[in-house]
Amino acid sequence: MSGNPYQDDRGNNDASITKPGGQSRMTPGTSTQTGGRKEQHTGDAFLIGDSMTGGYGKGPDILHDCTIAVNKGEIAVIVGPNGAGKSTAMKAVFGMLDVRSGSVWLDGEDITDLSPQDRVGRGMGFVPQTQNIFTSLTVEENLEMGAFIRRDDFSDTMAQVYELFPILKDKRKQAAGELSGGQRQQVAVGRALMTKPKVLLLDEPTAGVSPIVMDELFDRIIEVARTGIPILMVEQNARQALEIADKGYVLVQGANAHTGTGKELLADADVRKSFLGG
Ligand SMILES: Nc1ncnc2c1ncn2[C@@H]1O[C@H](COP(=O)(O)OP(=O)(O)OP(=O)(O)O)[C@@H](O)[C@H]1O
Ligand SMILES: [Mg+2]
Repeated sequence: MSGNPYQDDRGNNDASITKPGGQSRMTPGTSTQTGGRKEQHTGDAFLIGDSMTGGYGKGPDILHDCTIAVNKGEIAVIVGPNGAGKSTAMKAVFGMLDVRSGSVWLDGEDITDLSPQDRVGRGMGFVPQTQNIFTSLTVEENLEMGAFIRRDDFSDTMAQVYELFPILKDKRKQAAGELSGGQRQQVAVGRALMTKPKVLLLDEPTAGVSPIVMDELFDRIIEVARTGIPILMVEQNARQALEIADKGYVLVQGANAHTGTGKELLADADVRKSFLGG
């Protein structure tokens, strides 16, 4: 994508922004899983964590042949029980975890060996589940920190973040640690947007907020996706998240248990019974 992905194509959720076909590169994501599980069909996705296996340091494997991906113009959601490895899968995609096998692909390039910093340089924005803001800095300073890799004028991007999250403009001189949970999450997402990412990874962006604030945050996330930034996010509010998901992944014990469109997963009897409360 050229220019400013956050500024351009506002509201454009059209298939024309997807990558043109006809590439001759090696295609990731074509491995067939055993045990009757579905193939993941991630071959041409914009961001792919493909068949990732690995854990922390010298510890046991947490991820087992885990595949997650997001297409351009789409929202992909990862759900699953506590401790399933959702955050670990996100960290693996961001390069915070060495995968023993498997690979990570961004816009058709193998980035498995890149550091997290280099992945940010390539256009990955990551909002971790915890400690995702600088609490002692002001809201505005947090956004400025987000722009650390930029050498250009980022005032336009900051104006766009304030347009997306007006409350942050009102509170821009306040310490981020004094904000409500929902407002802090807006700071965290805003900070990630300051790099003008080509893809956004959000780990539980609605954790600990009220249902009303959750709905608002989801609306803003949809708005960001419509600007042309694909979003891969982990959510504990599974039902609501799958309602807005183009693609959904249910992870269980570090492995793909169910994959489908959000609608398919919401309609799947197994998924409903085991993960959505019936
Ligand atoms: N830094 C770490 N070092 C070692 N093990 C870890 C680390 N972080 C997580 N784990 C282990 O990895 C497993 C998966 O944890 P992870 O945080 O990825 O789960 P999750 O699906 O994100 O859970 P939650 O819904 O609670 O956020 C757990 O067994 C956890 O104890
Ligand atoms: Mg987690």
